[in-house]
Amino acid sequence: MQPRLAAAKALGRIRDGGSLDRELPPLLAEVPPEQQATAQALVYGALRQFELLEAVMGELLRKPLKRKDRIIDNLLFIALFELLDQVSPDYAVVDSAVRLARRQRSWSGALVNGCLRRFLREKEALLERARRQPSAAALLPGWLLDAIRRDWPDDWQAIAAASARPAPMTLRVDLSRGSRDDCLARLRQQGLPADAHACVKSAIVLTTPAPVSALPGFAEGLTSVQDAAAQMAATLLAPRPGERVLDACAAPGGKTTHLWEAGERRLRLTALEISERRIAALRETLDRCACDCRLIQADAARPDAWWDGKHYDRILLDAPCSATGVIRRHPDIKRHRRPEDIERTAATQAALLKALWPLLKPGGRLLYATCSVLAAENEARIESFLAETPDASAPPLALDAGVARSVGWQIRPGDLDMDGFYFALLQKQ
Ligand SMILES: C[S@@+](CC[C@H](N)C(=O)[O-])C[C@H]1O[C@@H](n2cnc3c(N)ncnc32)[C@H](O)[C@@H]1O
Repeated sequence: MQPRLAAAKALGRIRDGGSLDRELPPLLAEVPPEQQATAQALVYGALRQFELLEAVMGELLRKPLKRKDRIIDNLLFIALFELLDQVSPDYAVVDSAVRLARRQRSWSGALVNGCLRRFLREKEALLERARRQPSAAALLPGWLLDAIRRDWPDDWQAIAAASARPAPMTLRVDLSRGSRDDCLARLRQQGLPADAHACVKSAIVLTTPAPVSALPGFAEGLTSVQDAAAQMAATLLAPRPGERVLDACAAPGGKTTHLWEAGERRLRLTALEISERRIAALRETLDRCACDCRLIQADAARPDAWWDGKHYDRILLDAPCSATGVIRRHPDIKRHRRPEDIERTAATQAALLKALWPLLKPGGRLLYATCSVLAAENEARIESFLAETPDASAPPLALDAGVARSVGWQIRPGDLDMDGFYFALLQKQ
């Protein structure tokens, strides 16, 4: 399949509610291997610029296309993104879009040609008018922009800008089995230039993304792919060899395996995951990293069904959340989240905290983490929990990047080029 057509089809499926992770791979498989990266870049790019492209489309089309003709709409989105992106020459973008559109709907060639040529003629004026809509200027859906502005009155523009930029590929080195310097040297030998992350000791940032099959030590778990902010979780929880540790929301296992490495591969570790589909990926990660861990498919909020009654020294609650801190990696999040989701995830987070707290030993620690930037899922959640839990306290955190919140710590998307993450470390009396 032609990469632009594959990209338009993928965009259509995502607009219909599908996720990038599930919808893109089967379409990419139909694209010649040497063109798959192009198709992928087009879908990600169009999703990152979606709100702006949507506003421009509103100006270009006198009335929206019928639902049955959405493929034409999506081909236009992809072509407009390309004209903005300026990687391919304008004439090639227009020609290809017209040809592809005509093959899908014979009447559509003139429409696509007219829209794209008008865009090229009036580009600056069209973009300027589109950007008068705050959502199109910030590249975020209106409700989410409002929520981020409310929670981050001084930082919302930087957060929005970072959320629209592609994220680097970051590796984690298993420091229990090798050094970061050795890994950097091996990467360079293999023609993969990379740098040590400025504040996370296990993290390496690749100059250019590479397939995992090219990464030295990936198959044996000596290296893993994980954003540097996500790597802060194991360091903050700091499990010690021999301790009983619970990872309550574990799939796909990035943090489970990091805890294992941080505990010098000598923890009594349990990983829980509710989703049958995601547990397959978790199992694969555990096997790859040779992580000796008890794996249970269960609802962490209902310990009666799975807990053996022995208390944990450390618990990681990497809670399900809006994922608004990782939009740069998963730009489809902008299309899928709804305002009411935030209330729902906040209720789930509260239930998980309440259910897991009794499982912690006196003197034990629970790390609450989300990849959200919204206070309702972060500091507000922990403030409520502390107010109703007399034996819980939150010792202040101070990390080398990010900012303190009323309680806990936030890495904002883009801080030292990291994903957005929130952490609160809770101590039991
Ligand atoms: C943020 S992701 C975890 C990412 C993981 N810690 C990592 O670093 O790879 C949250 C996970 O929690 C799972 N989950 C959601 N609700 C759960 C529950 N009640 N009990 C157990 N797992 C749950 C989700 O299916 C999802 O896999």
